[in-house]
Amino acid sequence: MSKILFVCLGNICRSPLAEGIMLHLNNKHNLKLEIDSAGTSNYHIGDSPDDRTISNALKNGINLSFLKARQFTLNDFDYFDHIFVMDKNNLNHVLSLTKNEIHKNKVSLFLNSVYPNKNLEVPDPYYGIEKDFETVFQLVYKACEDFIRIKKLV
Ligand code: 4NP
Repeated sequence: MSKILFVCLGNICRSPLAEGIMLHLNNKHNLKLEIDSAGTSNYHIGDSPDDRTISNALKNGINLSFLKARQFTLNDFDYFDHIFVMDKNNLNHVLSLTKNEIHKNKVSLFLNSVYPNKNLEVPDPYYGIEKDFETVFQLVYKACEDFIRIKKLV
């Protein structure tokens, strides 16, 4: 079983969305992945995902309301096989916490796992409007679908 951690800044918009979508695909295809998400910041520890993220995901058939934000910890480097980060700022933050090559090799931009070497980011919708949440949903959903196909999980 592969253990995947999605990471963003607040753990209330992008990474819980990726977690919820991957959980959905995990159930749908019986993939046996272990999936979690975390934020690099402590801003929203214990909070549910952002209301706009929850409502947009629900409109698209994904329930995120049971998720609670937590902060990334050093133990995550040992526990998870893949640490997929949403943008370059948070990638640099997570990389700055690594203490060895094994940990470093687990960390990458999420979109590089499906669109290699492009260094594409999942944009932060937090200061955006409704359509930005839909754009992020479609981007992350497609990337999650591409991920399980490219990795030959389905
Ligand atoms: P996320 O979005 O990193 O996708 O969860 C954000 C959520 C909260 C904040 C920034 C980004 N914030 O500054 O509180």
